[in-house]
Amino acid sequence: MPAIPPQAIVFDAYGTLFDVHSVVQRLGGTVPPALSILWRQKQLEYTWLRSLMGRYEDFEAVTQAALHTAASQLKIVIEADQSDALMQAYLLPAAYPEVKAGLESLQGIPLAILSNGTTRMLQSAVRHNGLEAHFAEVISVERVKTYKPSPMVYALGPQVLKLPANQILFISSNWWDAAGAKAFGYQVCWCNRSAAEPEHLGFGPDFTISHLGQLGLVLPGVNLKSSIGAP
Ligand code: LAC
Repeated sequence: MPAIPPQAIVFDAYGTLFDVHSVVQRLGGTVPPALSILWRQKQLEYTWLRSLMGRYEDFEAVTQAALHTAASQLKIVIEADQSDALMQAYLLPAAYPEVKAGLESLQGIPLAILSNGTTRMLQSAVRHNGLEAHFAEVISVERVKTYKPSPMVYALGPQVLKLPANQILFISSNWWDAAGAKAFGYQVCWCNRSAAEPEHLGFGPDFTISHLGQLGLVLPGVNLKSSIGAP
């Protein structure tokens, strides 16, 4: 449970709202699941490495580079048309099954996305899953040209929502992202769908749920705050 009632909720996108592995599944078994796992791992590594190098390239470019590295490390040949199809599919990831109902249970509090994704990727993913009406703001790291867990990224939430970080609940399925948000000063919820073990980064979430359908239960006050004005 959050310590003080949040005035806004900020969601991570990939892994939290949208299932990155649905991208490969969209191509109907032509790409092995092992590629999807390494692709995601390389994608995140490249965001961290580029941030440390001070050499930002946007998330589409990083995602494409990560695909090629993952494929070559697994000795999988990805033809140009397959690579194009996978990158197109990245614009249309599936939301996890409980997301829509979970967001619907949060009427009356502003909701936002804060993600490594480009604005184009995020808006496409939101539209594809029919979630436009739920989000007051879709905030991309493009505004600061670096990646999570840089504090410059987390600072965008309070700036855009005009609220102090400790009045915002940040929700992520990625432990390292939850740790980064907590280190910045948000209240933090870890959405632990895979029953993963907590990690050790010096900061951790305030509370944990196992899927977003539980949000209405752990934030019962939020349902009643219709005076704030739903987005
Ligand atoms: C994002 C990464 C963490 O959406 O997946 O920001």
